Amino acid sequence: MSEIKIVRTTAPKEKPQDETKLGFGAITTDHMFVMDYTEGKGWHDPRIVPYAPIALDPFAKCLHYGQEVFEGLKGYRGDNGQILLFRPDENFKRINRSDERMCIPRLDESLCLEGLKKLVELDKEWVPHAPGTSLYIRPFVIATEPKLGTDSSKNYLFMIVLSPSGAYYPQGFNPVKIYVETKYVRAVRGGMGEAKTGGNYACSLKGQEIAHEQGYSQVLWLDGVEQKYIEEVGAMNVFFVIDDEVVTPMLTGSILPGITRKSCIELLKSWGYQVSERRISVDELLAAGKEGRLKEAFGSGTAAVISPIGELKIDEHVLPLSGGKIGPISQKLYDQLTGIQWGRIPGPAGWSVKVCD
Ligand code: PLP
Ligand code: COI
Repeated sequence: MSEIKIVRTTAPKEKPQDETKLGFGAITTDHMFVMDYTEGKGWHDPRIVPYAPIALDPFAKCLHYGQEVFEGLKGYRGDNGQILLFRPDENFKRINRSDERMCIPRLDESLCLEGLKKLVELDKEWVPHAPGTSLYIRPFVIATEPKLGTDSSKNYLFMIVLSPSGAYYPQGFNPVKIYVETKYVRAVRGGMGEAKTGGNYACSLKGQEIAHEQGYSQVLWLDGVEQKYIEEVGAMNVFFVIDDEVVTPMLTGSILPGITRKSCIELLKSWGYQVSERRISVDELLAAGKEGRLKEAFGSGTAAVISPIGELKIDEHVLPLSGGKIGPISQKLYDQLTGIQWGRIPGPAGWSVKVCD
């Protein structure tokens, strides 16, 4: 395994004074992890260096054709001061699945995790203390070959950057209003929807702007073929409680296989709930809503954690949910997940990974 070189900053930045106003993903820390890929040589020179802008040739392929992938996870400060990660191995498995789809060379998952732990330990003073805050971690790969041809790049850069962050939604753990987009689509089966890659987010901006203009926080995307079936929200997977069944859209190739989604399914099953991963149509939701059988809805994601859905707007229909309150299953999952993430509740083996004391 390559040795990770560390160059410490000689000019540490000032930490945020007021941890209640961190926002999401706006503050950088003192260091970053970097590794290069060169055709014929593979991934090389893993290193931790002072955080700084990078030089990129204007011909770099990522700038023109979007050949890039990313991940998102968090570092949590436990009550006893320990710094913890949540299922980080799953993020590196997923980045390699995204790499595969985007023709990017595979990363060494254990080297990435080792680099991540070293980086977080070095910047551990940046993990915020205020309740509900954490260190957002963003690993990513960009294609750097300076050439305007549309074939896949010969060179890449892998980086991990960190950002002390608060709640993703300004509402925090409170019901959000979601707009169901019926004109534009985010992904189609056979496309790249299941990869965590920038194009999926660029493609979602238009729908998001329309939703915001109408006072909704996020877009719920429908399938890109029939525009009939529920897929996912812009930054989270989605669950509905219909009668006694907890339903989440099955992974069809156009939905991101969320790690929080997977964790929710595993927890719910362990508590004896009936959980189905299946197709769910807008018509089924509307009918269940009308008949009073749609009891609760929530989104799941690293940034969003568990986000109760208080209202869905589908064309001319406005569907209120859980009386605009936090539903019992959303609450139970939120308590259990955050309990495990902050090290207050023991989770299943491997879910909580200690970085340092
Ligand atoms: N869906 C999309 C499009 C996302 O960007 C995210 C966030 O990462 C999720 C779902 C939730 O995935 P995870 O739980 O792994 O964070
Ligand atoms: C995450 O939840 O980690 C995400 O990546 C969502 C978003 C900020 C793109």
